[in-house]
Amino acid sequence: MNLPFDPAEVSRRLLVWYGKEGRDLPWRNTRDPYRIWLSEIMLQQTTVAAVIPYYKRFLTQFPTLDALTAASLDDVITLWAGLGYYSRARNLHKTACQIVSEQGGLFPDNLDSLMALPGIGRSTAGAILSIAFDKSAPILDGNVRRVLVRLFAWLEDPRSSQAEKQLWLWAEALTPEEKPHDYAQAIMDLGATVCTPRDPDCDNCPLHALCLANKRGLATELPVARRQKKVPVRQQVALIISAADGLLLRQRPPEGFLGGLWEFPMIDLPPRLKADQVAARLLSELCLHGSLEKVGEIRHVYSHFKLELSVFMVNTVIAECVAEGSKYCWCSDVELESLPLHGAHRKAYNQFGNNR
Ligand code: ADE
Repeated sequence: MNLPFDPAEVSRRLLVWYGKEGRDLPWRNTRDPYRIWLSEIMLQQTTVAAVIPYYKRFLTQFPTLDALTAASLDDVITLWAGLGYYSRARNLHKTACQIVSEQGGLFPDNLDSLMALPGIGRSTAGAILSIAFDKSAPILDGNVRRVLVRLFAWLEDPRSSQAEKQLWLWAEALTPEEKPHDYAQAIMDLGATVCTPRDPDCDNCPLHALCLANKRGLATELPVARRQKKVPVRQQVALIISAADGLLLRQRPPEGFLGGLWEFPMIDLPPRLKADQVAARLLSELCLHGSLEKVGEIRHVYSHFKLELSVFMVNTVIAECVAEGSKYCWCSDVELESLPLHGAHRKAYNQFGNNR
């Protein structure tokens, strides 16, 4: 491939910079593939700062692959609560069980076997191979993508399939045979701390003399912005139902959006219907009686929609019967604190749960 600079120069500069400026992160004092894999899964779509406390807590509870395999999915989701993208927690558990039952507990050390595991795409597989096994394998996570888009001054939409192909080719061409362990973390750190999305610190970038975007004064213009998509708004109604035995909660089905998390009984609010009518219908579907009082609204933003949740309080004395088909339980406030709760419902509880 024709490159505008010597790829060895890129890795040489990055490695020197990493030796001085690389971050001291909790997963950097190990080569244990289990720990590296866990960190890489947690770091998908999540910042280092948010991941660190979760990573430490997770390893205290599940220090080994065997410990994770022995845990229930509920325990794993409980530890994951608040980190978001819960399919990662389900895949983590599935993958652990698969490695123990099918591969004698040995983590695979080649691209194809890693990518065959749930939740591991090409970039995560590349990160595990380089960081845990010191094998030369390209990575292309969000940070690396931005570095490459600027380094090569890619002027088109970086999310197109053409861009995807080109960026992987560049990532491959730059990944050195020497020190892949350090190179992978160096280029990710550069993206996270210097080649940042909004305000890149080009003056202190080890690649600034090579970077085409910098040479052309385009660093802050790239990557070109995605056209703002209108995010749909979804309206729902939730009931905080209180009885002598506590508050009524139910568990979401294990698969799908926020799978396995707990929530107050909740229903979509169809357009043109009033929240109090829908709340009353939900209460009667649960075979419960009580007075409904609207206490407020919660807004919560997810990656693909905005949620507006109308929250009602219900005091009921009759708590004998709730609808079948989902997992329901009456929980004390103490129990509720430690349940992995749907984020918007946690907000609702914090805001209104004490008004009873
Ligand atoms: N983002 C994804 N993987 C990372 C790692 N190993 N270090 C820092 N940031 C990352």
